[in-house]
Amino acid sequence: MYIKRCQYCGKETPLNGAGCSHCRGGLLESPGVALLDTFDAVKSALSDKYEIIAEIGQGGNATVYQAIQKNLDRKVALKVLLPDLVDDPGYMERFHLEARAIAKLRHPNIVTIYDEGSEQGVHFMSMEFLEGKDLHHVVKEKGSLGIQEAVDMAKCIARALDYAHSYGIIHRDVKSSNIIMTSTRTSVLTDFGIAQSGITSVYAKSDPLLGTPEFMSPEQAGGKTVDSRTDFYSLGVVLYHTLSGRYPFPGDTPVTIMQKILYEDPVPLGKLVKLPPALERAVEWCLVKDPRKRVQNGKELIELLNSVTVRSSRPSVRTPAPRLVGQVVHRPLLRTVVLAATACLMLTGYVTWHNTLRAHVRTPPAQAAMTVPPVLKPVPNLIGGTKEEATRLLRDEGFEIGSIRVVAVPNPGNRGKIDSQRPLYGDMATPGTTVDLLIGE
Ligand SMILES: Nc1ncnc2c1ncn2[C@@H]1O[C@H](COP(=O)(O)OP(=O)(O)OP(=O)(O)O)[C@@H](O)[C@H]1O
Ligand SMILES: [Mg+2]
Repeated sequence: MYIKRCQYCGKETPLNGAGCSHCRGGLLESPGVALLDTFDAVKSALSDKYEIIAEIGQGGNATVYQAIQKNLDRKVALKVLLPDLVDDPGYMERFHLEARAIAKLRHPNIVTIYDEGSEQGVHFMSMEFLEGKDLHHVVKEKGSLGIQEAVDMAKCIARALDYAHSYGIIHRDVKSSNIIMTSTRTSVLTDFGIAQSGITSVYAKSDPLLGTPEFMSPEQAGGKTVDSRTDFYSLGVVLYHTLSGRYPFPGDTPVTIMQKILYEDPVPLGKLVKLPPALERAVEWCLVKDPRKRVQNGKELIELLNSVTVRSSRPSVRTPAPRLVGQVVHRPLLRTVVLAATACLMLTGYVTWHNTLRAHVRTPPAQAAMTVPPVLKPVPNLIGGTKEEATRLLRDEGFEIGSIRVVAVPNPGNRGKIDSQRPLYGDMATPGTTVDLLIGE
């Protein structure tokens, strides 16, 4: 049970909806009353199942605690709805919606939900405890993220989003504090607090009061209908923020920020930090205001991000540049198409090609002959399948199965299933590359 101090008589009284038990003051309606002993109150309310160890942090609608789930003796993160919001049916609904939305999802880059419920007025959700730090804190401490780290993070989140979107779930609150970089350097997406799921709500009208202003897409800021592409805009803001330490549209008030999001162009990231051009283009492409001209899905983004590494190690390979934010954007052609185009140019000399591509890819045949890299293919997704399925899929795609190690997995349903893979799903690799697997036991 929560205890508050009454602003009228100053005495401590249980928060039970009946007002102050001493003077009958309007305790619940009174703003600014201090919460007392919340930690102890939560601890005692959930003590049958959980031992609360420490508070990890507090966000806009909940406090997150580190705890031990007693019956399984495992570490969990407990998200507890702030007591002031318990009487708000909208918040309550979103809180439980988050639990139900994520509980459906099983993905290495999405936090796993274990349980949810309420005890003595304490509404909670238990989830896997992620050892690591959220990106907001990482950027605060380090100023910015390294290029490779940022690219790896964005690829992880792009995969997580594609997966969630395939279940009809839009996150709608992708931001740095909702991405946890774990000690194994994987990035995990948390907090589907304002996610919407289901066919009808996929195109749900956006509530501009939901979400964090700096990370909002123009359609969210303008209160328009949103679809899965809103999440890639926000991921673009995360990338901009992690690479430069700044937001594309900083401002003192949510209204100022939202106006800038709607009507202004950001300072090009390349003016703030020196980056590989492909990475700069990836961020610009996410931040296009018109969702139809923006990155459409995670696969497209991963493809462009893969060329960041390729460009730095093979500088002669060029990818076509999408035009700048605010203008019509051409989708970047698939990397394989670019490679094929390069090979084509090498064989036939100066071939007529798409104007944009021609301007960027025209390479003298002699030089091209020396620099054409082997054709790369995306590594297939093996997560959740059996060893036999993985072997078949890899062979079909021209890859080899590498080392296989067994790891303990908490969920019995995942035993005998692929838990993780290296290279990761979507990474570009030459045919014949071996893929190492971890299988749950
Ligand atoms: N599963 C988890 N494991 C470990 N830490 C977590 C987990 N989930 C959240 N956290 C941490 O708990 C803190 C609070 O998270 P919370 O989502 O409540 O707030 P927020 O993201 O800062 O704000 P908002 O309410 O706007 O999302 C954050 O620092 C986050 O990194
Ligand atoms: Mg959060």
